[in-house]
Amino acid sequence: MKKNQSASLQSGGKGAGERFSSSGFILAAIGSAVGLGNMWKFPYITGQYGGAAFFLLFVICLLIVGLPVLLAELAVGRGGRGNASTSLIRLSGHKLWGGFGFITILGAFVILSFYAIVAGWTMHYAMLSFTGKLFASEDYAMLFSHFNDSWLPVFWQFLVIFLTGFIIMRGVSAGIEKFNKVLIPGLVILLVVLAIRALSLEGAGEGVSFFLKPDFSKLSAESALVALGHAFFSLSLGMGTMMTYGAYVDKRQSLGLATLAVGGGDLIYAFLAGLIIFPTTFVFGLEASQGPGLVFVALPAAFSAMPFGSLFGGLFFVLLAFAALTSTVSLLEVPVAFVREAFKWSRGVSVFVVASLCFLIGLPSAMSLGNKVSWLTFGGKSFFDWMDFVCSNIVLPMGGLVVTLFVGYAWKGAAKEAGLRGWWLQTWLFMLRYVAPLLVLLVFLYSAGIIKL
Ligand code: PFF
Repeated sequence: MKKNQSASLQSGGKGAGERFSSSGFILAAIGSAVGLGNMWKFPYITGQYGGAAFFLLFVICLLIVGLPVLLAELAVGRGGRGNASTSLIRLSGHKLWGGFGFITILGAFVILSFYAIVAGWTMHYAMLSFTGKLFASEDYAMLFSHFNDSWLPVFWQFLVIFLTGFIIMRGVSAGIEKFNKVLIPGLVILLVVLAIRALSLEGAGEGVSFFLKPDFSKLSAESALVALGHAFFSLSLGMGTMMTYGAYVDKRQSLGLATLAVGGGDLIYAFLAGLIIFPTTFVFGLEASQGPGLVFVALPAAFSAMPFGSLFGGLFFVLLAFAALTSTVSLLEVPVAFVREAFKWSRGVSVFVVASLCFLIGLPSAMSLGNKVSWLTFGGKSFFDWMDFVCSNIVLPMGGLVVTLFVGYAWKGAAKEAGLRGWWLQTWLFMLRYVAPLLVLLVFLYSAGIIKL
């Protein structure tokens, strides 16, 4: 076999531009994990399920289930060198596993369709804040609902998908990697500035102690399952993203270390998010547990009452927009990698087709939130909520379960690909074979409404 032909086969037929550098991969994977989840969802579920005690549960879930599954997904991607479906087929030799992988690809596609809408809100709010328009209003709940009644969310949703497509059209190294290398440092700076601002507010201590002093009496089986579900969402598991990114990783890179870096990055981000949100809400007498409106309703009220609020509010929403974009990039790459391989289309054509479809599929979600159409709300949930419910509560745990069982029981080469030995290997396999499947199954049954606690 000729030298360059064998190199191309080894790399799964992908050119040099379709590979991450070592640091680029870690930043991109952290970028995928760090998103709206830990800033928009995490604080209000922490508020609802017991503050610091819940945070502790989240950390435990991240360690015993999240990290083992993350390593499993990365290993499948690098071992199979394909998309989230073909990697599983290549490693198992069975189409059935590929079918399960395909469901995770659909999951990423659908998550992107509504995640892009929330990402769009953050951009709109950043603009409102910098221009001072956000603080012209007194009633932030009303402002948010008027915004959703308009066509503006559709415009922003389009922009988010367009930007995401524009980035990944340039490929893995010149697009995804370069973009993350610029945005992640920006994100870190914004996080630190905002945490210092929040912690220096007078009376910030009460919020900090709610976040950091555990009240174990508030814990329940339900909070444990919510914490596990969130650990999955937050590490971008069960949606094919880490398998897809894994396929672009060099063979010499340590996946174990990368897993620790991504887990650590995600945890630090969640921690800093708590240090920003809890003091801010407590100082201004707002409810941290008030639900999804926390970031778009309660926080604008807090920013409006602080000196230089328009600047800090603007920076906060830019931070969210940055975090969201590094995640949307990872989500779009999942179906794009599939389409490229399945139809042998160029990256450009694949991105164009998938991004356009994603925008169209997202339209009913965007429209279901305002008063434009009523038939998009059924069973007490809007179309947007249904998409979120099905993806986060059904597809995501199912995708996680598939990877866990595949790596734990079916794939013989897993240990070698993951690069683990001795105690680390035994612990990893134990978690994947027994602990993770059981817990993930419980989350699945609970969140799908099959068991009640
Ligand atoms: N991890 C992202 C967040 O916390 O916002 C969300 C996410 C991205 C979930 C990618 C799933 C995924 F595949």
